[in-house]
Amino acid sequence: MERNRALWDAWAEEHFGSAFYGVDRFRAGDSTLPDFDVDAVGAVAGKRLLHLQCHFGLDTLSWARLGAVVTGLDFSPKAVGLARRVAETCGLRARFIHANVYDAAESLGGERFPVVVATAGVLPWLPDIPRWAGVVASVLEPGGLFYLREFHPVSQVFAPSSANPRAPELRYPYFPTGDPVREAAEASYAGAGVVEDGTSCEWPHSLGEVMQSLLDAGLRLETVREFPFTTYRAYPWLEEGTDGRWRWPGDQSPLPLMYSLRCHAPH
Ligand SMILES: C[S@@+](CC[C@H](N)C(=O)[O-])C[C@H]1O[C@@H](n2cnc3c(N)ncnc32)[C@H](O)[C@@H]1O
Repeated sequence: MERNRALWDAWAEEHFGSAFYGVDRFRAGDSTLPDFDVDAVGAVAGKRLLHLQCHFGLDTLSWARLGAVVTGLDFSPKAVGLARRVAETCGLRARFIHANVYDAAESLGGERFPVVVATAGVLPWLPDIPRWAGVVASVLEPGGLFYLREFHPVSQVFAPSSANPRAPELRYPYFPTGDPVREAAEASYAGAGVVEDGTSCEWPHSLGEVMQSLLDAGLRLETVREFPFTTYRAYPWLEEGTDGRWRWPGDQSPLPLMYSLRCHAPH
């Protein structure tokens, strides 16, 4: 996780100036939230919302624009500093906390939330999903909603083939092994360049492991959705549709690309 933190510090700065994140578009009033996240979470106006692994906060602040009273948490001090800067320049009220997600309960002083969200590229950075699910349960109010949207682990077993980088090749395990996949970090999804000595450690987590961990933590799982698209070109073999979403080539969607879960803490 320490290696990952150094990588995310470097990427945060580069992402901040990237066309992918479009901080200027956000400052001009854009929301970064896809409609299916907004629909799944429902009305947030006046509610306290905790965003776990918030990067530099554009999604967190988009929830603030919908009226939520937001707290973002991330372990990259650079990302948290940038998030505070965007909030200030946009005149949005938000609190950003610098902490490892595993220390969320202590860092939040035991505060619990009616809405907790985590989306798009959060779980592979975490070694222990049962422990993470326990953290999620510990920051939810009784009856509170947890919403997760993540890249589908089925799609994450593939890497660009060495013979043809636009074709997928089966490379990574689907089931958790306990060991991270250590790799020299290449350019990031947002086009951030190669970081000197940048090594990423990512842990595979199957859909079953994630769902069972949330159930074991005492949450009531209510909605499971699998999506045949991503919101950007997450893999070089995807093709863009007229709706701006990216799918496997051809008319059929052979494998899922994202999933979402909605669960509630017991009353
Ligand atoms: C892919 S980004 C999340 C992207 C976010 N959905 C967005 O679009 O801006 C993953 C984030 O997780 C954070 N992260 C990774 N491991 C973490 C940990 N153990 N505790 C807290 N944050 C962590 C990174 O710093 C990074 O900001």
